[in-house]
Amino acid sequence: MKKLVLYVSRTGTTEKIAKELSTKFDADLIKILPEKEYGSYFNALMRVIIEKVVNEQAASGTPYRDFSGYDVVFVGFPIWAGDMPTFLQDFLQNSTFGGTKIIPFATSMISGIETAEKTLKRVCPGSTIIEPYVCNKKTMNQYPNWIMRLNSFLKYL
Ligand SMILES: Cc1cc2nc3c(=O)[nH]c(=O)nc-3n(C[C@H](O)[C@H](O)[C@H](O)COP(=O)(O)O)c2cc1C
Repeated sequence: MKKLVLYVSRTGTTEKIAKELSTKFDADLIKILPEKEYGSYFNALMRVIIEKVVNEQAASGTPYRDFSGYDVVFVGFPIWAGDMPTFLQDFLQNSTFGGTKIIPFATSMISGIETAEKTLKRVCPGSTIIEPYVCNKKTMNQYPNWIMRLNSFLKYL
């Protein structure tokens, strides 16, 4: 079974989980970058707010790819303004997934993953989304349980 971890991380929090998943589940690992860096926390925040207000989708700097040869793709990202980063939306929308199963995971200060899950359904309409998990102060104690569920799920796939 072919597995892949696609992820976005500006300050390393999501990257830590992405690397753990890649090692644990023997999955390839690809970091998705924006075409134009977001810079400091303040700059990133301003840009993300503007994107939201004018409904703009930033461009991915990572070339689009065909991932339909993978059985399972983890998609990890930080929550930005309640959603997944728009350049990741651009990347996912223009890459090919076929019927691949997607396991979304996010890190955040407090926000949930529900809005990002809806976005994911929109940008990867042919994929099945399973076992979404967001890691923040409130939910970090659920991480071992999530890994256990993934373990049994991936074993019987
Ligand atoms: C531009 C920007 C917007 C953010 N928006 C949210 C948000 O809406 N809700 C939230 O809980 N955290 C938000 N955060 C915090 C990040 O989601 C959180 O710090 C995340 O773990 C960072 O992951 P990373 O280190 O992989 O980049 C935001 C951070 C940035 C830089």
